[in-house]
Order: sequence, then C-alpha cells, then structure tokens
Amino acid sequence: MAQILLIHSNKNVHDLININLTTYLGAHIIPRATADEAIALMEILPHIDMVVAESRVALDGVTENTADKLIKFIDEHRLDTELVVMGDDGGKLKDLKNGLIVLNPLDWEGAVDAASKILGITLEDLKKKISPEYVPIYSAYFHALHSSPCDVFIRIKQAEGQYQYLKRIHRDDTFEIKDIQRYEAQGLKYFFILKSERDSFATYVSNALVLRLEKEIIEASADLDPASQIPVLGESYDLALNSIVDQGLNVSTIQLADTVIQGMVSTTQRSKVLGPLFRQIIGLPTGRLFKKGQITLMVALEVLKLKNVDLGLPPKDDATAKIAYAAFFADLKILDMADSDQIEKLVLLDYPDLGQMTSLNENVKGLIFNHALDAALFIRRNPEAPLDVDIIVKQHHGSLNGTGFKTEYAQLASLSRLFILCEAFARQFIYYSDKGRTDRPIILDMQDRFKGHASMEILVKALQEALKQRERES
Ligand SMILES: [Fe+2]
Repeated sequence: MAQILLIHSNKNVHDLININLTTYLGAHIIPRATADEAIALMEILPHIDMVVAESRVALDGVTENTADKLIKFIDEHRLDTELVVMGDDGGKLKDLKNGLIVLNPLDWEGAVDAASKILGITLEDLKKKISPEYVPIYSAYFHALHSSPCDVFIRIKQAEGQYQYLKRIHRDDTFEIKDIQRYEAQGLKYFFILKSERDSFATYVSNALVLRLEKEIIEASADLDPASQIPVLGESYDLALNSIVDQGLNVSTIQLADTVIQGMVSTTQRSKVLGPLFRQIIGLPTGRLFKKGQITLMVALEVLKLKNVDLGLPPKDDATAKIAYAAFFADLKILDMADSDQIEKLVLLDYPDLGQMTSLNENVKGLIFNHALDAALFIRRNPEAPLDVDIIVKQHHGSLNGTGFKTEYAQLASLSRLFILCEAFARQFIYYSDKGRTDRPIILDMQDRFKGHASMEILVKALQEALKQRERES
C-alpha cells in the first residue's frame, strides 16, 4: 500500500483527493497542513512514496513556499519520494525531477491522474477496479449516537448516475445531534457507509438505542413524568421498525424491538392522565404507526384494569405484553411499500374497499389485503414474542384467516377483539386530530362502528366505563 502525504488548504479538494486515492489506488493517505509538518514526518518515515501538495499554502495569513521546501528536502536527503505539485509557481518548478505538476491548484482530478501515473496505475486499471459499494443510512439513526463505529460519508452528485462520496464523520469521532441537524437543515436525508460495514453499524445503533431506552425509560424512577419519555420512545420506535424492515429479524433487531416494547409498556403503566399524553403523542414528529400503536396499548390497558370477567379476557399481566407486541408488529408489513406518504395514509385505513382504490396498483393492494397474515407469519419467527401474539396480529382486521377486512368478531380470540376496538379508537383519535376536531367523544364513534356485533358492543361498553373511571381518578 502506497503511503502518500497530502497537503491542501481547500477542504473539499483535500477530501476529494483523499477519497479517490484511498478508494481507487488503495493508498494510505496522511494529511499534513504544511511542508514543515510533512518534512517533520518524512524525517522519521523516509519511505513515504509520494507527497501531493499545493505549490504554496496560505495558513493563518502566512504563505509558505510548500513545493520549494519539499523539493529541497527530497533532493538533500536523496529520497525516492515523488511529488505531485498542484499549482504553477511561475515556472520555477520546471526542474522538478521526481514528480508531476498540475497547473490548476484546485484540479483534484488532475492530481489523482498524476498520482495514478506515478504509481503505474493506468486509467484502464482504474476503471477495472470495482468501486466500493456504499449503502444509505437514514440520518435519524445518528440522532441516537455520539460516535460511529465506521467512517460516514455524504454523497454528492457529479453527473447522471455518477456520485462522489465525501467522508464527513470519521470512525470513533464524537459528534452532537446539532452536527447531524446541520446536514438535515440543508436537505440531507441519508448518510452513507461502506456496505461491508453495514452489519456492524446496525448492531452499534441497536446497542446504543437499547442502552438509551433502558436508562431513560425502563430503569428510570417511577415518579418521572412519562411526558419526558414519550419523544425518546417515539424516535426509538421508528428506528426499530425501520431496522426490522431493513434487516429483518436478527439478534440486534429482536433485542431492540423487545426493548422498545418494554418501553411502551413502562410508559403506559406510569401514565396518570391519558388525554394530555394522547395529545403529546399526536404532536410528535414520529410516524403514525407509533402514535397508533402507543395509544392502542394505553387504551387496552385501561380496559384490562377493569378485570371484568364477562369480557373473557386473560389477566392483565398476561395480556399486556401480547397487546404491546401486536401493536408494534401488526402493520409492519405495510412498511414494505416504498411510498412513505401512502404508508402514512394507510395507517388510518380501517375497513377499506380495495376495489374502489383505483389509484393503487395490484401489488400494493395485495400488500394491504394480506398484511395481517404476513405480519402474523413474520412475528412467529421472533422468539421473544409472547405465545399467541400471532393470532392477534392475524385477526387485527376482523378476519379469522388474516386476509382482507372482515367482521368475523364473534369467532375471534377475545384479545383480538380488544385490540381491534383499541386500534379503532386510536385511529379515530388521530383522524380527529388531523381534522382539528375535539368536540366529539370518540366513544360515540366506537358505538356506531361496532353496532350490531354483540361481542364488540360489550367491549365498547367496558371501554366507556374504563375511561369514565379514569376521569374520576384524575
Ligand atoms: Fe393493519
């Protein structure tokens, strides 16, 4: 591997040369600010193969004759080190023995070509070299981190289909959320990392999120106001869902989902007043799946607290984790769709007539039609999921076999019925909030919605009683 010292005062040019020489020539680049710094290093490391440097570097208002100094040092010490000088220095460099001159000091491509020539690598060889593959990483993942286990790049479009990747965060650099937000303010949605480092990055993010959830939510003092925990929970929920969609179920994503679900339960159990929390959840910048899932769980727990044996529900402790898992996984398969706006709308779909949705293509319709069954099959592969959660997930649109949208309530498991009601409640809450309506009690909509289905009407009554009881307590 060639060792190349790089001296350039323009940060962008510096980065472009650095990444090209590293990527295409496989060189090891050592940045230095001035000729003096470079010479200090060459005195202890005389086997440096090449120096790529501006002919003159201005630093703190002082201009250094960088190329002159380097040539002198290399000549005096009779080194084999080659030089690529960027910038014409009035013809003074014409005697340069070991090296090449690129006339324009900003011509990074010229410098890369010159370095390739010196190292004996032709343009043909360069073309044959397979460029490393980068994968996009949603910028929000970095909100949960203060350092990265690998180098992180931003992508710049050079021409149609041609991109340049610039290193912006070095492995183990520390950074703050405001550093990430600065990029996002300029419209950046994705950072990039090398594909070969994706798995270790995913594990790192997952571990960081798990630690954060444990510290700030699960192990937090019982007196802590859940309002302070909801934003962290919402952000983690979105990231956990995305991780599962990206990577499927593996040790990291299973652990992350489990911790988020524990966080949802823990926040729900410490909530003293429901209304303000619901409104806070609705106002978060998270996806609607979190909003729907968290409100569904909170409402379901209220009904379970009644311990009403007529409802045929399992004991609260048994049922809580099942409802929470179902809330997290039920609509996960909808996320396989590429169009995120459409996903957001679909979250509010209750009993759609897919035949009337002419704007959707057959693939998307199939996805919506089968999402309950698909998610049920998926969650069965999660060893952490409580027993029979797949039944709730499969039946969460009223269909016994998990396909389509039906009203086979009487035949469903009791927890599936509870889930359906609470999800309908959450959906209506989100719908009214979108419309700015606060005047109508949602329980009235639930009465209309499930009228004529005795097995559901008894649950709607129970929910009404539970909400009244909650009001009396607060
Ligand atoms: Fe669904």
